[in-house]
Amino acid sequence: MQKRTFLQTVATVGLLGASGLALAQDNVFKIGLILPMTGQQATTGRQVEAGVRLWMAQNGDTVAGKKVQLIVKDDGSVPANTRRLAQELVVNDKVNVLAGMGITPSALAVAPIATQSKTPLIVMAAATSSITEASPYIVRSSFTLPQVSVALADWAPKNGIKNVVTLVSDYGPGLDAEKFFKERFQFDGGKVSESLRVPLMNPDFAPFLQKVRDAKPDALFVFVPSGAGAALMKQFAERGMDKAGIRLIGTGDVTDDDLLNDMGDTALGVVTSHHYSVDHNSPANKKFLEAFMKANKNLRPNFMAVGGYDGTRLVYEALKKTAGKGGGDALMAAMKGQIFESPRGPVFIDAQTRDIVQNVYLRKVEKKNGQLYNVEFDVIKDVKDPGKAKQ
Ligand code: DHB
Repeated sequence: MQKRTFLQTVATVGLLGASGLALAQDNVFKIGLILPMTGQQATTGRQVEAGVRLWMAQNGDTVAGKKVQLIVKDDGSVPANTRRLAQELVVNDKVNVLAGMGITPSALAVAPIATQSKTPLIVMAAATSSITEASPYIVRSSFTLPQVSVALADWAPKNGIKNVVTLVSDYGPGLDAEKFFKERFQFDGGKVSESLRVPLMNPDFAPFLQKVRDAKPDALFVFVPSGAGAALMKQFAERGMDKAGIRLIGTGDVTDDDLLNDMGDTALGVVTSHHYSVDHNSPANKKFLEAFMKANKNLRPNFMAVGGYDGTRLVYEALKKTAGKGGGDALMAAMKGQIFESPRGPVFIDAQTRDIVQNVYLRKVEKKNGQLYNVEFDVIKDVKDPGKAKQ
């Protein structure tokens, strides 16, 4: 009798233990964050992760009764790795959302997995226009190259720049930047005399810059991904391009806030268009900047950090809206149409395209208190991705 009671007790405790565990699993909400933490794009990984972690630190890790768990994986910017890691995160870890995506080929490699498993994929860095069309489960918190390139194409001819050579990294975002800059600049009466493309991996800009020097345009328009701007700037100065009267203009990726201070005075006067500058004058940005630098040993945030921060906000708000009960479809529905004040300015998620609508700023590199900043001098408000204009 006594023995049976003992066994029954053991069985009951065991059952309770098991259901307790199941309950604990049910109450976890997992974010699978895949980023390049090593290799050429490592600054992107570091910035996006820091943005994600800052949002979580400021807003707690319990949302709608769920414990939010972040799982970070390094893909080294190799799309086959991104795809494998995404598959493991969905199948083994049963993540509720996928996020990150340092470069376009990574985002495109994961899109079919998002679709098949109905897992929302928050693209926090990659910026080729077509990415959001690769899966109905993709939502973007970064930007698109057409979005930022057009503003600069409108600015240039009004500011003495009539003849331009373009130089872009030879893949999705570079081709978008080249196409949308060129079309608008020509529409505005400008002339693009040459379009140069450099490899994404380990680019040597020297032979391309020599061509630019020989062509003697009023300006060189560039797109290189975040992290590559410093090398380009250095070689631009070494070849005496600025002294030859050739101005450097580009999307804000080239004067990335993370690296700008190390570029030195050759960066002074460079005009770019972009959606975020650390110098953006708003209370929301001041708060973000202060908290970010405090949490990251004085590291300056760049636009990648803001993509991570805002992308995590999208997930948190969707989780709240669905009261922690929704699957992939419910989360997607709750992310569409979100509108909020980002450190970059006001933004919203276009419900049709799942892409971000935001202000685009014209900026010039200036020195303030001994530090280099992209100082905003004009704004084009609420810019939708022109890459989707035909929809
Ligand atoms: C992409 C990567 C970048 O680092 C960047 O600044 C813009 C776009 C991309 O691969 O999509």
